[in-house]
Amino acid sequence: MARLPILVAPHPVLKRKAQPVAAVDARVATLMDDMVETMYDAAGIGLAAPQVGVLDRVIVVDVHEKGDPPNPIRLANPEIVWSSEEKSVCEEGCLSVPEQYAEVTRPQRIRVRYLDEKNQPQELEADGMLATCIQHEIDHLDGVLFVDYLSMLKRNMILRKVQKLKGQKATA
Ligand code: NI
Repeated sequence: MARLPILVAPHPVLKRKAQPVAAVDARVATLMDDMVETMYDAAGIGLAAPQVGVLDRVIVVDVHEKGDPPNPIRLANPEIVWSSEEKSVCEEGCLSVPEQYAEVTRPQRIRVRYLDEKNQPQELEADGMLATCIQHEIDHLDGVLFVDYLSMLKRNMILRKVQKLKGQKATA
């Protein structure tokens, strides 16, 4: 497995639409493994392929509780086939928008269809943090970041902070 560099907003690849994979073959399975390692290394709970510069519809998530064993889920071509009327508000962050957080409203429960790491079709019902995380990651596949749900004022403020942070890191 290999750790991959994570793109930071406003990188243009983060705004592009990812394409479905034809199948989860050895290349895609390796990408999934590398993404899981990259996510753990960055202490994230989800990662989408465009965040590592790959425009494939592939995401990985792991929302296990502290103290529980890791529980990574690898999803290719994820598709939300049902979402609840009830919404929930969750404070979200993103490895591509480092150290910034904001509340986003999304459906509380979803059902998602996808191909797993063995190319088998799966369906998963998720609620709470897992539902939020999967929706956030699927958004990445369509070039959408969580800051896109905020007012322009708030979004610009966050993106300016990210730029400033990047500048500081470059000179450190
Ligand atoms: Ni994100």
